[in-house]
Amino acid sequence: MAAIIMDGKTLGLKIRERVKEKVLTLKEKGIIPCLAVVLVGENPASVSYVNSKEKALAEAGMESRDLRLPESTTEDQLLSIISDLNKDKNVHGILVQSPVPNHIDEEKIIFSIAPEKDVDCFHPLSVGNMVLDREGFLPCTPHGVLLLLREYNIPVSGANVVIIGRSNIVGKPLANLLIRREYNATVTLCHTGTKDIAHHTLQADILIVAAGKPEFVKSNMIKEGSVVIDVGINRVPDSSAKKGYRVCGDVDPEVSEKAAFFTPVPGGVGPMTIALLLQNVAEAAAAIMTVKK
Ligand code: GUN
Repeated sequence: MAAIIMDGKTLGLKIRERVKEKVLTLKEKGIIPCLAVVLVGENPASVSYVNSKEKALAEAGMESRDLRLPESTTEDQLLSIISDLNKDKNVHGILVQSPVPNHIDEEKIIFSIAPEKDVDCFHPLSVGNMVLDREGFLPCTPHGVLLLLREYNIPVSGANVVIIGRSNIVGKPLANLLIRREYNATVTLCHTGTKDIAHHTLQADILIVAAGKPEFVKSNMIKEGSVVIDVGINRVPDSSAKKGYRVCGDVDPEVSEKAAFFTPVPGGVGPMTIALLLQNVAEAAAAIMTVKK
């Protein structure tokens, strides 16, 4: 039986409508939520993500401060730009698109962002608050995955959740969120050092894949009737495509024959990430984020 498609596009649009309403109430108070979007260099995938984020901000009635910097930008120049944005009262969120060029220390850049403007939830203070169940921003992609599970009434409490990928953006925060009492999952985190990934994925009631490897997960690696969430977005060369490439996830679409639920790529997790970024910017503008002292 074919799996139910988890439609992140529709749920993302629903969230964006709610954000739009919040923006209207903020505007009545004279606050226009604004995100500074910093892109260093011209990585084609990053350019496309940044364009999508800025379009979504405009559609939600928010402002964006578009900072496209040349590849040659130095670390000091970038730190100085962030320092100015930290001080700017009209900027509520700061996003530095990852990855930055190799000559810039990404960790140093992330650490320099004022935590109250860290809408990505990448700063160690934000990450610490999240791990310790304290109030603060939630990272956009992991939050999107949790909301998709909730929307489709997937039982998470007591479920065996297997995550592939230990990135700071997806795998690590998602594992931490899912072990919160409110989600109550049993989490296994697989990575490049895992001996037999299929041994683990075959036990998964919910499999979340953020491996960065095109169509890495095949049907024979998943349990019949499981939920498969694909966080991957890969560009693979395809001479028959107009652009010369096609976009695919980290999961082979053939799993839809065996899974009970799965997220498509595109149209699954991706639109959720953008919607929750907008939500975080609106929250930052409303100063709803109150870090407990
Ligand atoms: N690169 C890939 N995903 C993200 C993200 O969510 N935020 C930022 N800043 N960069 C990214």
